[in-house]
Amino acid sequence: MSSDNGQTQPEPTGRFLRACRLLPVERTPVWLMRQAGRYMSEYRALRERYSMLEAISTPELAAEITMQPLAAFDLDAAIIFADILPPLIGMGLQLDFIKGVGPRIENPLRTTKAIDLLAVPPAVETLAGTLEAIRLVVAELEPRGIPLIGFAGAPFTIASYAIEGSGSKTYAHTKALMYSEPAAWARLMNKLVTITGDYLRQQAASGATALQVFDSWAGALGVQDYVRYVQPYNKMLFDMLRSTGVPLISFSTGTSSYLCEVADCGADVIGVDWRLPLDCAWKQVGPDHAIQGNLDPVALLAPWRELQPRIDDVLQRAAGRAGHIFNLGHGILPDTSVDSVRRLIDYVHTRELVPTEMDT
Ligand code: CP3
Repeated sequence: MSSDNGQTQPEPTGRFLRACRLLPVERTPVWLMRQAGRYMSEYRALRERYSMLEAISTPELAAEITMQPLAAFDLDAAIIFADILPPLIGMGLQLDFIKGVGPRIENPLRTTKAIDLLAVPPAVETLAGTLEAIRLVVAELEPRGIPLIGFAGAPFTIASYAIEGSGSKTYAHTKALMYSEPAAWARLMNKLVTITGDYLRQQAASGATALQVFDSWAGALGVQDYVRYVQPYNKMLFDMLRSTGVPLISFSTGTSSYLCEVADCGADVIGVDWRLPLDCAWKQVGPDHAIQGNLDPVALLAPWRELQPRIDDVLQRAAGRAGHIFNLGHGILPDTSVDSVRRLIDYVHTRELVPTEMDT
């Protein structure tokens, strides 16, 4: 196997990395978005003592939280404990996480002048805590053969947070800026590609063995706007990351009607939500991409007799084809019981895979 930098890489051995490369595995690899979080009492206990930004920027704390779900469950991958928004701090935005409310930006981007004033500092200066946390976690996980996923937000999703200042139902400020000031939009997206590309490359250099880009809010756009205002920048980002040689995962929600365009951005693995059955999503994404998903996280709140057939459905639709990574269609909800999570993970691992060819 070779990457664009011309180095030949050995075939990966672990289930997760093999599935990312469309190589056959005996059991479906599984990890869960937001696997470190409020549904775990160990996490809640730590968060009582430290703020979200302290937990993220202190390497020992971020490493400890990353490892909490690995100690509790038989997971096939870890994901570094961080968030998609802290890179905005180094650019000049005032971010805080408010208890019971979520992230807030005090000075949201609302003018073209504010866009032009945004700084583009290197990640080693502004996000050193996360890079160090990655090194600490990799030192623990590498001997156990467990990969670590690094991540960042996609330019559109980060831009919408920067512009709205919080979550939004309509993305009115973001779309208004995109439509009325297309040149400023392009400058903003270029800055975000530069920041995010550098940050993810540094994560890989610090030991992350896969990189996931969260475009959680891309589904706010219709396909024409996605192709015009978002896709070129996602392509630039994945182009910048190709030379890291690690598998690239693209995750988005609400994009069922244009998964082809999402897959066209250049990631190896496409993470999908629960809105389309997995086999339909995989047909759109195409057989040259691995797929990650796609159980509705709310199903984990249901009793086992309801949950089990839903897990079976995802696995049956994957049909033993190489390249399926089991995950949720979005992050675990805080009310989820730890027992349901354990039962899900162990159950996925009991299913032996009988490989079949894709029928398209
Ligand atoms: O998956 C993981 O376990 C890694 C950690 C991770 C977090 N956020 C920790 C977190 C990841 C991958 C993210 C990504 C993220 N953050 C996204 C993209 C994925 C998604 O869920 O859509 C987005 C949009 C954010 C921004 C963000 N951070 C929001 C909207 C919120 C508030 C909503 C919520 O769930 O509280 C956060 C806070 C946040 N990020 C928490 C965690 C564990 C909860 C913080 C707490 O109260 O302890």
